[in-house]
Amino acid sequence: MMRFEGKVAIVTGAGSGIGEACAQTLAAQGAAVVIADVSEPGGNRVADGITRAGGRAVFCRTDVSDESDVANLVRTAIDSFGGLHLAVNNAGLSHPQARLHEIAPADFDTAANVTLRGTFLCMRAELGHFVEHGTGAIVNVSSCAGLKSATRMAGYSASKHGVIGLTRTAAIDYASEGIRINSVAPATIATPKILSYPTELQAQWASLIPMGRMGTPREVADLVTFLLSDEASFITGSTYELDGGMMQALPA
Ligand SMILES: NC(=O)c1ccc[n+]([C@@H]2O[C@H](COP(=O)([O-])OP(=O)(O)OC[C@H]3O[C@@H](n4cnc5c(N)ncnc54)[C@H](O)[C@@H]3O)[C@@H](O)[C@H]2O)c1
Repeated sequence: MMRFEGKVAIVTGAGSGIGEACAQTLAAQGAAVVIADVSEPGGNRVADGITRAGGRAVFCRTDVSDESDVANLVRTAIDSFGGLHLAVNNAGLSHPQARLHEIAPADFDTAANVTLRGTFLCMRAELGHFVEHGTGAIVNVSSCAGLKSATRMAGYSASKHGVIGLTRTAAIDYASEGIRINSVAPATIATPKILSYPTELQAQWASLIPMGRMGTPREVADLVTFLLSDEASFITGSTYELDGGMMQALPA
């Protein structure tokens, strides 16, 4: 029997990078997956790839910062696969890098709306369903920037700190109802977005990591799927660093 047989999962931002790897890993382990993304080409590509590989997936175009899109996302899981048991709230965005007084309020709003408000809206809709059914597990994708500073990314860092706040508080509020909520905090992960930056910048980011390399989307997906699984049945409210040792190497 596969780990997630009979389970239905939502993965946001699943049309690329970390979300794509989470969706593929969940599907390979038996889950039916709703691929939520604003990008139709990305979402369709990932859903088609899972289906072609023998898994079950459907794409649902979703802007996580839009309340009605998020309500439609949960409805799609129920209508397509008969329920909802697992969620990976992964969609998140940064703003152009700048010191705080140079960040345009509109850029701050865009990053916060997707990263923080989007995670809130998704959790709100998912938890509404989980409470009715007395079961569910959520993993929110935060960042090392949600645990410490991230130079010239104050708006992103604040939003990712907020994601951890949502995780910790909701974990306690739902702990007695069979619902677990955790988050992961990756350092730089070699996703298409990161690989689109100049190689010197990538090398600079990798040099901050004691292991001397960036992480892979698959390494994030392996931790996320562990936290969603019954093997993590006593874990809630936690945030796991996934960083090749980076957080321990930074000055206190
Ligand atoms: N890659 C890294 O180094 C890294 C490190 C730490 C944390 N993270 C976090 O991991 C998550 C995924 O990052 P990634 O590198 O895989 O990014 P990515 O850009 O490769 O993929 C993000 C996906 O989210 C989608 N998306 C953007 N806005 C959306 C919205 N409003 N609603 C729904 N989907 C939306 C995009 O279309 C894209 O498919 C983000 O929250 C990011 O902040 C990434």
